[in-house]
Amino acid sequence: MKTKIFHIVENDNLDQLNEAVTLLENDEVVAFPTETVYGLGASIDSEEAIDKIFKAKGRPNDNPLIVHISSLEMLDSLTDNFNYKAKKLAEAFWPGPITLIVEKKDKVSNKVSAGLSTIGIRMPNNKIALELIKRLKTPIAAPSANLSGKPSITDPKYLIEDLDKKVAGLILSDNSEIGIESTVINMSTPTPIILRPGYITKEDIEKVIGPVELSKGITTGENPEKPASPGMKYKHYSPNAQVILVGGSKEETRSKILNYIENNNKNIKVLLSRNSKEDYPEYLNVESLGNSVEEFSKNIYSALRQADKENIDILLIESLEIKDRTLAVIDRLLHASNYTVI
Ligand code: TXA
Ligand code: MG
Repeated sequence: MKTKIFHIVENDNLDQLNEAVTLLENDEVVAFPTETVYGLGASIDSEEAIDKIFKAKGRPNDNPLIVHISSLEMLDSLTDNFNYKAKKLAEAFWPGPITLIVEKKDKVSNKVSAGLSTIGIRMPNNKIALELIKRLKTPIAAPSANLSGKPSITDPKYLIEDLDKKVAGLILSDNSEIGIESTVINMSTPTPIILRPGYITKEDIEKVIGPVELSKGITTGENPEKPASPGMKYKHYSPNAQVILVGGSKEETRSKILNYIENNNKNIKVLLSRNSKEDYPEYLNVESLGNSVEEFSKNIYSALRQADKENIDILLIESLEIKDRTLAVIDRLLHASNYTVI
């Protein structure tokens, strides 16, 4: 299949989007930027296009898609159950990186919800994404744009790697500002439950609507038979390299890393969550992803993909201290490493 590549940044003339809209109207799928990670979108009115998303990604079909909207009016076509707490969260955080799960209207295709009675909805905080949905005049169902199981895409060059010749359109824009996926929270239970941690944290949410729960298994590594969020049970965010998380203080981490490298003859790269590259011998392959959880989150997916380009066998990743703000990225690292922690 021939893939139409669009290069659009936020202050460009957005009329270029009309061609992408036509593709979506014609049952095709188009990848587009969001503030979290790139998404692979289809009109929610096209079951044919939704099938194409699952096929292009190699996504298991029991894993539901998030529905992206550009205005609150679009909610009317999706749900009759946007309750008081959901409204409060939408008011506080949309457009932004939080997905609210609510009971869906019957007319929303079961292909979007993967047979569930609920759907996840979010309004992304990205001008191109919002304009695309607005011009289509229909919500866009979109998972992250990576091939299933691979790290999500935050640098548009990887869209071409994963999806060229597999989908009708790719909108290449800037690198994603946030770099990890939205917080997913189930609003259909009496006490809302966070199913996937994200940039909007438990504490952020509780300031707006009071107590919420964290789904069991988010940090513990339990892998429940029937996870609340179907996507959480699959292998995720994984490069070809084996990922090992290294925990502890700066000093402890350093000595564990040096010790590991000394006793291993594989091609190893180290990714640091602190600005402490100078503490390591120069001949080692060490990269710092920043000195804050925000910088680390923004850079991590591209660093995982870059390691595969360098044919790295083992990635040793310096973990972060578990806190409200670091939970999301730690969750992704635990998945990427298949819970291998030293
Ligand atoms: O930031 C994001 O959320 C990105 C951008 C593109 O918006 N999207 C994204 O989609 O990460 P995806 O498909 O990679 O992850 C969606 C997660 C999956 O774990 C899925 O199982 C869960 O949300 N999910 C979606 N709908 C659900 C529902 N009705 N009930 C429970 N979990 C749901
Ligand atoms: Mg994903």
